[in-house]
Amino acid sequence: MSDIFRMNDRFARLSVCLRAKRIHQTLRAACIHQLQYPPMDKITLIATLSFGLEAVVKRELQALGFHDLRVSDGKVEFDATLEDIPTANLWLRSADRVLLKMGEFEARDFDTLFKSTCALPWEDWIAEDGVFTVNGVSVKSQLESVPACQSIVKKAIVERLSEAYDTDWFEETGAEFPVKVSLRNDIATLTLDTSGTGLNRRGYRIHAGVAPLKETLAAALVQLSFWNKKRLLVDPMCGSGTVLIEAAMLGRNIAPGLNRSFASEEWAGIPSAAWKQARNQARAAIKSDLELQLFGYDADEEMIFASQSNAKAAGVGDDIIFAQKDIHNLWIDQEHGVVISNFPYGVKMGDYRILNQIYISFSKTFRKKMGWSVYILTADKKFPDYFKRARPSKIRKLFNGAIEVAYYQYFGDRPAK
Ligand SMILES: C[S@@+](CC[C@H](N)C(=O)[O-])C[C@H]1O[C@@H](n2cnc3c(N)ncnc32)[C@H](O)[C@@H]1O
Repeated sequence: MSDIFRMNDRFARLSVCLRAKRIHQTLRAACIHQLQYPPMDKITLIATLSFGLEAVVKRELQALGFHDLRVSDGKVEFDATLEDIPTANLWLRSADRVLLKMGEFEARDFDTLFKSTCALPWEDWIAEDGVFTVNGVSVKSQLESVPACQSIVKKAIVERLSEAYDTDWFEETGAEFPVKVSLRNDIATLTLDTSGTGLNRRGYRIHAGVAPLKETLAAALVQLSFWNKKRLLVDPMCGSGTVLIEAAMLGRNIAPGLNRSFASEEWAGIPSAAWKQARNQARAAIKSDLELQLFGYDADEEMIFASQSNAKAAGVGDDIIFAQKDIHNLWIDQEHGVVISNFPYGVKMGDYRILNQIYISFSKTFRKKMGWSVYILTADKKFPDYFKRARPSKIRKLFNGAIEVAYYQYFGDRPAK
């Protein structure tokens, strides 16, 4: 970090913390549960994710240079600095959010929840005019009532901030500081959401179909496959084009968050120079001299228009060829390639016959193409009975929103070098 950077950092933090400093000591003494706080430039971040994507997000974080990653169901925790908040938000492709861990403690009753929340240094982050909402979740914990936990946490933070800022009235007109209280097995974890809107919202999907894939999940599907930027990739039922757009962004090394904003961009605690630098670096990292082979088809013409405009908005409009084509008329010449697709699930009874026809056509096209690696995401457990090339090489249980799905992976022969 440069000296100028350090100075800006100090000035920004000074404005938030100066008034609070004097009060800190009094408050800390007043709170029953004394906690140890790390200095602000040593923070702990939590990348939250959809169940099943832990290994993908871990790999992404390692590629970004983070070490000592603590992986558990639905999250990866890691040590970081302030400057890492922009980096993680801009670059994580498969994580849902980046949370700043404020504290963790055992809480079996509301009194403890209140006092331990009150003992955390909220004024280091939340500005006097900050807007803060509290969301919660409780799993296998004595404090079961989520609304009650949210309300206690809100009250505790207000009390803390009232002391710190010496006021009883908060305008709440400034930046947003989304707070989350998560109770699991009676352990409360309190966090601030640095992302704001979920990381799946890259900003490019202007048009979506009836069942669009979350961008974060699409990015994970690509990263779980054998596709790389030199290989041919086809999505024969591309809908709004999410899989191909994510592949193109990966191939071109485009940071997925480059064209959107994040809640913590407004926080005085993070120097704006850190955001500027991270964005500049991300822009410079884009690979422009690259030829990609990405093809998307869909029977619905509207979806082709949607895919084209989404790809254009993502900055990869020239990288993908989209065309209207029914899967029953799909013809593939090449001996090697990768298929990644999210098939319709056919939830209504009448849809099963249509779905079976789709499987039969897909099977006809790819059954004998042993040089193709095939990856299908579907909630329909019958899919492997129809695609008889072989048993799936791997089946991964994932979630598309709240729907449990399986990612059927059939590894193809590698192309000769
Ligand atoms: C689950 S959606 C795909 C969603 C897509 N992954 C996205 O992110 O938007 C399935 C797509 O299959 C298309 N489809 C349905 N029947 C088809 C057929 N016979 N041939 C080609 N596409 C078809 C639908 O139009 C729909 O867009």
